[in-house]
Amino acid sequence: MTMATLVVVGTQWGDEGKGKIVHLLSRRADYIVRYQGGNNAGHTVLADGKRFILHLIPSGVLHPGKRVVIGNGVVVDPWALEEEIRSLRRYGIRVEGRLHLSLAAHVVLPYHRLLDQLREEGTEKLGTTRKGIGPAYADKASRLGVRVADYLEPDGFREILKKNLVQKRFTFKSFGSPRSAGRKSLESYPRLRRLLKRYACDTSLLLNQAVRDGKRVLFEGAQGTFLDLDHGTYPYVTSSNPTAGGASTGTGVGPGWIREVLGVMKAYTTRVGTGPFPTEMPPALAECLRKKGQEYGATTGRPRRMGWLDLVLLRKAVQINGIRRLALTKLDVLSGVSPLRVAVAYRIRGRRTDWFPISRLEQSAAEPIYEDLPGFDSDLRQFRKIDQWPRQARDYVRWMEKFLGVSIAIVSVGPRAEETLVLDKKFDWI
Ligand code: IMP
Repeated sequence: MTMATLVVVGTQWGDEGKGKIVHLLSRRADYIVRYQGGNNAGHTVLADGKRFILHLIPSGVLHPGKRVVIGNGVVVDPWALEEEIRSLRRYGIRVEGRLHLSLAAHVVLPYHRLLDQLREEGTEKLGTTRKGIGPAYADKASRLGVRVADYLEPDGFREILKKNLVQKRFTFKSFGSPRSAGRKSLESYPRLRRLLKRYACDTSLLLNQAVRDGKRVLFEGAQGTFLDLDHGTYPYVTSSNPTAGGASTGTGVGPGWIREVLGVMKAYTTRVGTGPFPTEMPPALAECLRKKGQEYGATTGRPRRMGWLDLVLLRKAVQINGIRRLALTKLDVLSGVSPLRVAVAYRIRGRRTDWFPISRLEQSAAEPIYEDLPGFDSDLRQFRKIDQWPRQARDYVRWMEKFLGVSIAIVSVGPRAEETLVLDKKFDWI
């Protein structure tokens, strides 16, 4: 049996440009699947000359006829889902019959959003998207969560909600009553229940059947490797597993059925929110590159923090995701920057290390050791073949491949589909 499954993961702190890459690869997919995160994600896609930002529904939905799946590992805010379906409809895109929502996915309720906001206003600020993602996953792990299957059962849902709010009464006391939190959770309930019911099913069964039938299944990671709850810069992480392993737990398609992992890396590094960032740039340079690369959060509009490319991060991302091919994005943004600084190791408390440390103190203390490579001036967007590029740009890509020991299969030099070069002709997803 031929397995045609691919996981696409972000190798940095999210915002690597996965939206565009996934959109391109989706042309050759039958199913496009989200496996973690929620509407904290923002996937920006340019399709038919229009700019779409998708938060919850896989961006493959923009291709007519493709099936899209929200897996069990995702947390779903019914209000946000409704809004996203509505906004797609305004563009003439209908999801009926081709959107499938896992019955086992957890539901984000208004009090999750409230708890997220409260934390962000306190001293333990993480710089979250304030969408309630962390508190919803916390309830899941505490076995207090509401799954889609529960939400669809009115009596069962009310019962769980009641228990949950009793449990949280001390937290709620300081800023309002559990009753009002309960009322908010039930607002528009009949309508939202009908909406979820239309799409809900056992998506694990659906996807395993699809894989068995030889269908092409694309797993779309949200956020990135260093925002992973286990492997990222804890505690400045999201509450799910964006790394490739998450594709199995988050969908119920076993690791044995996953054929390949494609890592998406941006030619420089960005991060939103708080947390260590060894190669962060000085403000003036950051501002200049931010403008050029349009680096503002797709979900929150926040300016992203900017930094040089960090291959210490990439080395770890390649290993823990099992990446054999990479897609390099936004290389065009670096034109005119010289030299191109790349971190190849860190110095931590006077010692050199090649490996990204786990301790939060060491992560904050890490000072990058750079190599400087010659920059290039021309606008890469105008070229359709790598042979036409300035030698420095070509060398930069080849040097990176050698350093990481994986092939760079795709290079993106602009938001449009034509601004994409395929370097590895054997990669059968493009
Ligand atoms: P949360 O996922 O809203 O809890 O936020 C936790 C951390 O993940 C914060 O630093 C956010 O800025 C970051 N984050 C969440 N989603 C994304 C994303 O899609 N792109 C980049 N960063 C994200």
